Amino acid sequence: MSLEKLLADRLAQAFAAVACGPVDPVVRRSQHADFQSDAALPLARRLGRPPRDIAIEVVGRAELADLCTAVEVSGPGFINLTVADPALGSLLSTMAADTRLGVAPSAIPATVVVDYSAPNVAKEMHVGHLRSTVIGDAAVRLLEWLGHRVIKANHLGDWGTPFGMLIEHLLDLGESEAAHELSVGDLDSFYKAARVKFDADDAFKQRARLRVVALQSGDEQTLRLWRMLVAESEKYFLTVYDQLGVLLTDKDFYGESYYNDMLAPVTDELDRLGLLRDSGDAACVFPDGFTGRDGQPLPIIVRKRDGGYGYGATDLAAIRHRTRDLGATRLLYVVGLPQRQHFEMVFAVARQAGWLHPPAVAEHIGFGSILGPDGKMLRSRAGGSIKLVGLLDEAVTRAAELARQKNPDLPDAAIAEVARAVGIGAIKYADLSTDRIKDYVFDWQRMLSLDGNTAPYLQYAHARIRSIFRRAGIEPTGTPIVVMHPAEHALALELANFGAVVTGVEQTLEFHRLAGYLHTLATTFSGFYEHCPVLRAEDEVRDSRLALCDLTARVLRQGLHLLGIATPDRM
Ligand code: ARG
Repeated sequence: MSLEKLLADRLAQAFAAVACGPVDPVVRRSQHADFQSDAALPLARRLGRPPRDIAIEVVGRAELADLCTAVEVSGPGFINLTVADPALGSLLSTMAADTRLGVAPSAIPATVVVDYSAPNVAKEMHVGHLRSTVIGDAAVRLLEWLGHRVIKANHLGDWGTPFGMLIEHLLDLGESEAAHELSVGDLDSFYKAARVKFDADDAFKQRARLRVVALQSGDEQTLRLWRMLVAESEKYFLTVYDQLGVLLTDKDFYGESYYNDMLAPVTDELDRLGLLRDSGDAACVFPDGFTGRDGQPLPIIVRKRDGGYGYGATDLAAIRHRTRDLGATRLLYVVGLPQRQHFEMVFAVARQAGWLHPPAVAEHIGFGSILGPDGKMLRSRAGGSIKLVGLLDEAVTRAAELARQKNPDLPDAAIAEVARAVGIGAIKYADLSTDRIKDYVFDWQRMLSLDGNTAPYLQYAHARIRSIFRRAGIEPTGTPIVVMHPAEHALALELANFGAVVTGVEQTLEFHRLAGYLHTLATTFSGFYEHCPVLRAEDEVRDSRLALCDLTARVLRQGLHLLGIATPDRM
């Protein structure tokens, strides 16, 4: 159990006795002591007593002698707690002896679907897909580590009207030439060439239209060409995933077409439930509470007159499938903020249709844009969309230069490994360390800097600890941790907080909180290392400090691992 929780439980008992009912003591880290509880203040009105009196009585009743050296009331009624060194020491010794670092798997494992990455066939992945892939990957890692059953759903855009023109363009090029362009990731020029012909050439446009009809009616020859487009694009996306080191595999593609057979039954069900309405040239659902600027209700287009289904219909089918057939109780959609309203509407319809009800919940894990140095959407120099592969290659190249400067005598193979960990890590960390709903500026200098809240800083902090052991030619042993020095106390408090941070992120998926925690941990460790000699200390102190070093390295490693970031042993 986390230290915070331990203190909260003890205080909760005292509060309950004073308030004659349950009270959340809201224990938080504090500037003025190790922890603080503010719960007496909001109680004052209810109990008709001054908050200070309440706090004093709670302190009198709370059994904290084994955990705290000081429990004081300050200001209008804050309770300040200072944790006892022996309590910290025994807590950390237990944590160090546990391969899970004191973080127990969830008591109520859920089936969670993470819908993420989701690029579009025959189109370049853009930086929005990069964010979705990186954030989704962290979500999968963290939830799996906490014992949940996680289903990775890569909702590939692999169906719809553009496939008419894409298939016709493929035929114009010839199959082998098309396959070549797609497999080397020349997706944008492929897509654009098709688009240009579609816009300029009426005969081509007509062919494309007929091709859509053939595709929708299941024409075998057309399906074969469509499968080829999908397969070549998937191959390309997999190389990007491999380069990024994310967990997505070929088994996780559940593209839009996966739901094709469910669309008619879903539409029928909506109709039976009285939710479907004819609106001009489409059958739509109008979820309660959504209106446009003109005050008119907003539709989700289910089926168009030509028989095709809308993007929203597919998402409705996917929800129904995920809750009903997969038994999922938590549905996460890692998709950019511009699609917020779309998901709110889809969730609302799913609730009205009875496909999404407690305990099942759906959450849009939205995120902002990646901006260029000019503060506008990140674009290539030519003004087009950035090619992801080029961006990732550049990160690794830049990191290799850095590694060589720092470590001139590291062999090439080792440099390559460090460069990959640092370059890719830097890109991921820049993303995960900012509040995801905000935009952030893509800045090579900053993300690759060895100081500041960056991946290289944390990776370096980890490698530096590993080098202490390497230089001394020793391995960490299971010696108990004894906390004495104030710098040890500060470090111990941070370490003991790991579990609470992880379980917080399990709920909010705000990975910047985990990143921020790791950064604070690393800086606190620096303070400790500056003030407390380790290898030069006397026997028991030395062993305990080595154990603290090792525990810090393990928490950094595990924390970064949850973010999908590698931690090389030397840098
Ligand atoms: N393919 C879509 C895009 O590129 C994202 C899909 C998100 N997931 C979903 N279930 N709608 O914008």
